[in-house]
Amino acid sequence: MTRRPDLVRGATIVGTGMYVPDRVLTNADLERMVDTSDEWIRERTGIRERHIAAPGQASSDLALIAARRALAMAGLGPEDVDQIVVATTTPDRVLPSCACTVQAKLGAKNAAAFDVLAACTGFIYALGIARGAISTGIAETVLVVGVEALSRIVDYTDRNTCVLFGDGAGAAVVRPCAAGEGILAVTLHSDGVLGDLLEVPAGGSLQPTSRETVEQRSHFIKMRGRELFKVAVRGMEESLRAALDIAGLAPADLDLIIPHQANQRIIDATRERLGVPAEKVILNIDRFGNTSSASIPISLDEVVRAGRLGPGDNVGFVAFGGGATWGATVSRWTMPAPLTDGVAQAVTAARGAGS
Ligand code: ACO
Repeated sequence: MTRRPDLVRGATIVGTGMYVPDRVLTNADLERMVDTSDEWIRERTGIRERHIAAPGQASSDLALIAARRALAMAGLGPEDVDQIVVATTTPDRVLPSCACTVQAKLGAKNAAAFDVLAACTGFIYALGIARGAISTGIAETVLVVGVEALSRIVDYTDRNTCVLFGDGAGAAVVRPCAAGEGILAVTLHSDGVLGDLLEVPAGGSLQPTSRETVEQRSHFIKMRGRELFKVAVRGMEESLRAALDIAGLAPADLDLIIPHQANQRIIDATRERLGVPAEKVILNIDRFGNTSSASIPISLDEVVRAGRLGPGDNVGFVAFGGGATWGATVSRWTMPAPLTDGVAQAVTAARGAGS
């Protein structure tokens, strides 16, 4: 857990973007693939449909579109970015990092780029890294991306997992702000003892890829969902309360909570334990499923573009994921309602013409 330091300067989100692939996989589609039903999926998870990457469409391709949209909203160009942090469990390749691939595709030639693997908590971890880099002067403009092509590691013969996950990307541009504004608190937690509750057993140094690992379907996600459910609710409540304490706020002071979209029942249970009304908690799991590290930045971009956040609003992000990892951030929002991408591009072009 981080204690609130005497920051020389704060860090704040100045642009957001998201992208989900065109192809939609509905519950009715899944009924034809495994022994499940639309009713079971909706009642147990809240999910109606999820988006699936096209063949050949890699995580970096999804991330690139979200990143361009976030930079356009911020009125910045690729060369303004000096750090790219990509949170992902599904990089294009083991090597190089997805962040380096995004850097190349974006043309962000001045950026240092690296990946963060914290499963569904990845975006919170990456945002914490961005805030640290900016407040200590290591970076001025950090592009934070949460992206997943989970369909690549989902076993579409396993009804326990295949109904849950979707593909997508969300991005945020983080820049300096006055101390006491922007990201006020970050809490990060892990418990590796719980590592086998959610894992992809093969493909790493423990079980390198072999004919046997492929035949045993060991390159796909294995999950003990019921056990994860219990620790997720407790971890999400505790980490958001801890972040609120650091920020000197109470749950009632939050104008909006953007939780990781793992399961509607986890979100509802966390909200009830915090005593927060439903209208303050973002839910879009029905349309996207669980997109792991992409779910918070996707939700954030929808919220920002809908004009639901204004300067001075207090917003909490909270997540739980494989590892196990969990964490939260509390921010005092600094951005005015965003310009549309078109207007922002015109402003950027006019700035360029004037310089
Ligand atoms: N369709 C129909 N029946 C199903 C399905 C399905 N898709 N999946 C499981 N079932 C059955 C089970 O086999 C079981 O049958 P049984 O009673 O005959 O054994 C029954 O439904 C109940 O199964 P449970 O696992 O107890 O169902 P539960 O209510 O716990 O819901 C779920 C399962 C949705 C996975 C839930 O436990 C969950 O959301 N867990 C947390 C997931 C999570 O937070 N993951 C971490 C984040 S993700 C990340 O980090 C990438």
